[in-house]
Amino acid sequence: MIQIKTPEEIAAMRPCGRLSARVLRKVGELVRPGVSTYELDRFAYDLINLEGGTPAFLGYNGYPASICTSINDQIVHGIPSPDVVLYEGDIVSIDVGAVVDGWVGDNAATFAVGEVSAELRQLIEVTEASMWEGIGQAMANAHVGDISFAVQSYAESYGYGVVYEYTGHGIGRKMHEEPNIPNFGRRGEGPLLREGMVIAIEPMINLGTADTRGPYADKWTVFTADRKPSAHFEKTVAITAEGPVVITEE
Ligand code: MF3
Ligand code: CO
Repeated sequence: MIQIKTPEEIAAMRPCGRLSARVLRKVGELVRPGVSTYELDRFAYDLINLEGGTPAFLGYNGYPASICTSINDQIVHGIPSPDVVLYEGDIVSIDVGAVVDGWVGDNAATFAVGEVSAELRQLIEVTEASMWEGIGQAMANAHVGDISFAVQSYAESYGYGVVYEYTGHGIGRKMHEEPNIPNFGRRGEGPLLREGMVIAIEPMINLGTADTRGPYADKWTVFTADRKPSAHFEKTVAITAEGPVVITEE
């Protein structure tokens, strides 16, 4: 069932959204050559707890960390590790979720490590812009497919591969609620969007083809099939009478 939130409930999601956004920004500020993804995870864990929240991912289906750190050809769900160090020229997608007062916020962004190629800078910019194209469609009486189509058509106009095996999702007291929000689809199709729905819009865009591989031994990390890089942006968005409102905002 698709959960509809009252305006009071949407207001109550602000603290988890604000904290998720702040942690993502601050972790992003630590991204530099030589930092390990474990250091980023530990920082996020400490800050979320210091602010009275709980990491949404830690222990979720057995996930072993507080954030996801997915480097280069890793699409999503990379697990932080002291053995994984960022190098100049890498890109890293960081996904952060925080629970505050029983409500869940979820957001992600891709960061450049030092100087990266123009090709990777464009991949990052277009992926973020495709997310905003989708957010712009998150209005009452539109359909999920309007979001999907907006993301897909924007990203594909650059020749990129839009990941279809992983999607955005409804979010609230649980991290994953109905409906799924695919990043590919057709206008006017899929569930009707209604005032009071809260959804995570999260395009995963590949420099090469859309195909994925994995997860393998670690049970989590998803890779591009062609080993080319991938970017990921995500925001938690409420559908309100005034249009889309980003909840994961400071
Ligand atoms: N942000 C991710 C999502 O939208 C959640 C990471 S999966 C976890 O599905 F297991 F790490 F929590
Ligand atoms: Co999500």
